[in-house]
Amino acid sequence: MPDPGARRRAAPIIAIDGPVGAGKSTVAMAVAAALRYRYVDTGAMYRSVAWLAKSQGVDLRNERAVATLARSVSIEFVTANGRPRILVNGTDVTDIIRSPEVSHAASVVSAHPAVREGLVAEQRRLGASGGVVMEGRDIGTVVFPDADVKVFLDASPAERARRRYQELVAKGVRVDFESLKRAEEERDRRDTTRAHSPLRRAEDAVVIDTTGLTVEEIVNRIVQLARPPR
Ligand code: DC
Repeated sequence: MPDPGARRRAAPIIAIDGPVGAGKSTVAMAVAAALRYRYVDTGAMYRSVAWLAKSQGVDLRNERAVATLARSVSIEFVTANGRPRILVNGTDVTDIIRSPEVSHAASVVSAHPAVREGLVAEQRRLGASGGVVMEGRDIGTVVFPDADVKVFLDASPAERARRRYQELVAKGVRVDFESLKRAEEERDRRDTTRAHSPLRRAEDAVVIDTTGLTVEEIVNRIVQLARPPR
């Protein structure tokens, strides 16, 4: 039975969580396109705050200072020439926030409760009216525990490292596979063991192991969950 929060919404919220390299972004974007919903990449929000802190010389371990940035930053998801772009205080950071340095910094700043509070409030505002596919680590557990559809995407560690490697190489970022794998394992370890909102599967989430599945197969499955047969 839909819960009261869900009933107030005009359209569903689809929460997609999972570890690095499980295929969240590709799948979440395709689901949003198939359903004509908005797509919100919450990882990009943590990355944006991390980039801002680094570019302003703010110590990433200084929770108060980073939280102040998280509360005041303007993060815009826009489309320019048909391509999705992310603007932080007006600067296009779409590519730079995917660098290994910002990936690491995002994982550090996202462990601060005060930073999370600021961004979670913004995420709730962005998703409140529904018709949204929101991707992250804590969407089904913390941001929208009453989401209409909760999916937890997973894949084998080898497959996840391979995907991240291909993603970066395709973007022209030069990386060494073994050191990338180690860095991603470290990021996963930090994401799952942090005290505040660690990555974990919501009890009522549908788990999809994406190893060996095509994007189309995964997307169809989620679209079916969002549109139950009449
Ligand atoms: O999904 P991603 O790799 O772009 O996320 C970047 C970092 O932000 C990652 O270390 C996990 C963290 N994150 C988070 O803690 N909570 C979210 N909802 C999304 C991302």
